[in-house]
Amino acid sequence: MKGTPQTALLTGGTSGIGKAVAKKLAKTGVKLYLSYRDPDKAQAFIDELKALSGNEHIYGLECDLGSLSSVADMANQFLAREEPLDLLINNAGILGQKNRTVSKDGYEMTLAVNYLSTYLLTIKLLPAIRRGAPAKIINVISLFYQSITHEDFPKVIKDFNATEKYDPYRQYALSKLAIFYLTIELSKKLKSELISVNALHPGMVFTRMSKNMSFFSRLRLKLFRTGDWSSPEQAAEKYLHLCSLPQADNVTGRLFSDNHLCEPTPIALNQAYSKTMLDLSHDLVRDYL
Ligand SMILES: NC(=O)c1ccc[n+]([C@@H]2O[C@H](COP(=O)([O-])OP(=O)(O)OC[C@H]3O[C@@H](n4cnc5c(N)ncnc54)[C@H](OP(=O)(O)O)[C@@H]3O)[C@@H](O)[C@H]2O)c1
Repeated sequence: MKGTPQTALLTGGTSGIGKAVAKKLAKTGVKLYLSYRDPDKAQAFIDELKALSGNEHIYGLECDLGSLSSVADMANQFLAREEPLDLLINNAGILGQKNRTVSKDGYEMTLAVNYLSTYLLTIKLLPAIRRGAPAKIINVISLFYQSITHEDFPKVIKDFNATEKYDPYRQYALSKLAIFYLTIELSKKLKSELISVNALHPGMVFTRMSKNMSFFSRLRLKLFRTGDWSSPEQAAEKYLHLCSLPQADNVTGRLFSDNHLCEPTPIALNQAYSKTMLDLSHDLVRDYL
């Protein structure tokens, strides 16, 4: 792989697309940190990865992304190593929980796991990422973010915790839109420090996430041109493509879909909405920064 990273941290690397990405990354020889929530499953997978790749530098970091204190603990653990980090892939995510549940901190679970944890982890890890520069941050989103319209946004942000109305797909779309706002904001802040921040839509991929969807939900996603179905291995290639882009190309703050740059829709570029979302996020995670 061109531009091979030295040290990478991947969230959600023990299932689905992340698992396929971990296998490909391990083979590059990178020092790889995988965040996990199930210690037995993670240990078995790390052993498998080592055997498969011959790479001995694969480590697990326990973290429940539905708990801000757990996210902060993982980030602090990594920072305590004083290691540079030149690739962070925020991949973990959930979709379609039929009933509203809340995180340890009382936030709606989809928003908490997909977005608040990404926000907190990325900001906390910045000292290590700065040490690792030139470095890359890859945030995994979904083109389904487009289902939030300009008319919806004020209502959705007012009820971000979904206490008045719970729609799992709305929460998913909001979490992915929010990650895109974070992507753009951080890209501006970090550009001069040779740290790129890009968003990736992996297409529609056969994983546990897609298996849990009803026919109607699949149709709903399809309406937003979310791409053709592929395997986790095919989707993982798209991650590796982004990892291999030369830093000198100065591509940052952009959205990738199917290995191509993709034009974000106006709502994703709305600066007022972005500021509202990021100010809110900062307040929600403030105690753990
Ligand atoms: N599949 C698609 O069609 C599709 C389309 C567009 C975007 N995406 C995005 O691609 C990314 C990967 O999705 P996927 O399809 O691979 O999903 P998946 O197979 O369900 O894997 C999700 C990963 O997130 C981890 N995770 C979930 N909740 C967690 C928590 N509370 N704490 C720690 N880890 C947690 C899971 O850990 P465990 O291994 O312990 O379960 C798993 O590794 C997501 O961001 C998703 O939104 C997927």
